[in-house]
Amino acid sequence: MLRWAKAGERVVIGSRMQQKAEDAAKKARDILGPNASVTGMENPKAAAAADIIVMSVPFAAHVDMIKSVAERVTPDDLFIDVVVPLSTAVGGGASTALGVWEGSAAQQAVRLLPPHTKVASAFHNVVSEALQNLNKDVDCDIIVCGDSRETREAVMKLAEEIPGVRGVDGGRLENSRIVEQITALLIGINIRYKVSEAGIRITGLPPRS
Ligand SMILES: NC(=O)c1ccc[n+]([C@@H]2O[C@H](COP(=O)([O-])OP(=O)(O)OC[C@H]3O[C@@H](n4cnc5c(N)ncnc54)[C@H](OP(=O)(O)O)[C@@H]3O)[C@@H](O)[C@H]2O)c1
Repeated sequence: MLRWAKAGERVVIGSRMQQKAEDAAKKARDILGPNASVTGMENPKAAAAADIIVMSVPFAAHVDMIKSVAERVTPDDLFIDVVVPLSTAVGGGASTALGVWEGSAAQQAVRLLPPHTKVASAFHNVVSEALQNLNKDVDCDIIVCGDSRETREAVMKLAEEIPGVRGVDGGRLENSRIVEQITALLIGINIRYKVSEAGIRITGLPPRS
């Protein structure tokens, strides 16, 4: 969010609590300066105000959160699901992931959103610390999954507004299952190597045009 606001996007932060959303928005403006357009609203209002909605909550809250905003999502909106079904949702560790009945958290979102919503999944394999450190480029590819090429392209472009990031076309939304599970692997790698920002790069691809 900080990165997109820095790149000139208009950002609305959603929260369950209006005051918390406003406080988070003020914190972002304090970091980015007066030209940044960052406001805070309760989740349903934030979803209504935005044309790109990024769903980023713990997996245990995924279903309820989508239900709480679903009626504010229009067919013109782009819905990006970042959620990873980590085992922490059922009292397990963060280095393992759960199986999801629909195949992935992103496919679960499709079931809950209005028909024809443009759903993509992305940003699973980049840690928030790296995104928040504005002094450093982000050393990570962002694999984007979604059932339409146009939707994936739009999200890859958005990802590449973040310095250092390359968007990678991950194909259909069903592939999100694989990408989501990689996050659990990366968390385990972070633990074993005593680091905090393990990410992924896909080699052998041509330069993006
Ligand atoms: N952190 C990372 O580096 C990272 C990287 C890749 C993917 N992800 C995935 O992105 C998602 C968010 O991760 P995070 O680390 O930002 O999680 P988080 O800090 O625990 O939660 C994000 C926000 O979700 C809301 N929330 C928390 N519990 C909730 C509940 N029970 N019901 C409804 N809303 C709740 C809270 O906002 P309010 O209190 O303001 O409502 C909270 O600030 C997760 O699925 C995670 O696996 C995270």
